[in-house]
Amino acid sequence: MSKSKLGDQLTFPGTSLTVHRMGYGAMRLAGPGIYGPPKDPDAAVAVLREAVAAGVNHIDTADFYGPHITNQIIRKALHPYPPGLVIVTKLGARRPPDKSWQPANSREELIAGVHDNLRNLGVDTLDIVNLRMVGPGHGLEVGSIAEQLTALADLRRKGLIRHLGLSNVTAAQVAEAQAITDVVCVQNYYNVAHRDDDALVDDLARQGIPYVPFFPLGGFSPLQSSTLSAVARRLEATPMQVALAWLLQRSPNILLIPGTSSLAHLRENLAAAQLTLSPPTLAELDGIAAPRRFV
Ligand SMILES: NC(=O)c1ccc[n+]([C@@H]2O[C@H](COP(=O)([O-])OP(=O)(O)OC[C@H]3O[C@@H](n4cnc5c(N)ncnc54)[C@H](OP(=O)(O)O)[C@@H]3O)[C@@H](O)[C@H]2O)c1
Repeated sequence: MSKSKLGDQLTFPGTSLTVHRMGYGAMRLAGPGIYGPPKDPDAAVAVLREAVAAGVNHIDTADFYGPHITNQIIRKALHPYPPGLVIVTKLGARRPPDKSWQPANSREELIAGVHDNLRNLGVDTLDIVNLRMVGPGHGLEVGSIAEQLTALADLRRKGLIRHLGLSNVTAAQVAEAQAITDVVCVQNYYNVAHRDDDALVDDLARQGIPYVPFFPLGGFSPLQSSTLSAVARRLEATPMQVALAWLLQRSPNILLIPGTSSLAHLRENLAAAQLTLSPPTLAELDGIAAPRRFV
């Protein structure tokens, strides 16, 4: 592992793909409500170019952001892609004109989704595709994911996908998936205030599989906490930087993909990789999460 201003590097298991622990999530580059074009497309291009110039080599996206818009902006900003850049995309959702988020998990929809990603990103093979299950809200849909994952594993055998990951899944679904194919990462909802996946983070760490929290800053409900603010004041950092630093120290298998459409926020977020939290500060921040209820 080499340490840089964007943190250590991690290799997705069983792959030649190595990324800094601090990456970038591109969802916010689409228009309001992650639908349609952004107000300022040049600003979106500038954010991506600055991220990569700063050393980011892990970008998270989906062709259903926009739809198509985010991938088209990534292509415009970065194609031909620099060596070493890993673009992780997702399949499993669609955005009808009413702007809702609907499942798109049939074999035909998954095949069409792969081709949408290839075309809009301008590549012959997708580095990593996460099968994104769509449950109620951002909640988890229980049940088997074997059919969907088998369809994606077929596309992988055809060479359209290099590696597979999972998103918005339960521990049982991860185990089911691992009996079908290698799983190189898991992307679920997790941050300093929302820690339902604590056990899964630790289990994946034991297996050497990266855990990639989405909504690391709270997503559509930005993190707000007096503890976060107090720690940030003490460290002369921002609350969002503290939230990202907490995630980096939470477990060595966590890769970050904070999302932003703003250059100022991008710079702030990347700088969080250099913030170190002491054990007493980590303990203080651990108190932010609502206590888990065990049944
Ligand atoms: N697998 C999934 O189901 C799933 C679901 C959601 C997201 N994702 C992925 O995860 C990535 C991260 O999630 P996210 O973008 O939804 O949420 P997030 O990273 O938790 O937060 C992004 C929000 O915080 C704001 N923000 C960013 N940096 C900030 C800063 N330093 N100070 C104050 N506000 C800041 C952004 O606004 P500005 O644009 O104004 O900075 C945006 O509104 C996405 O980009 C996407 O790639 C995956």
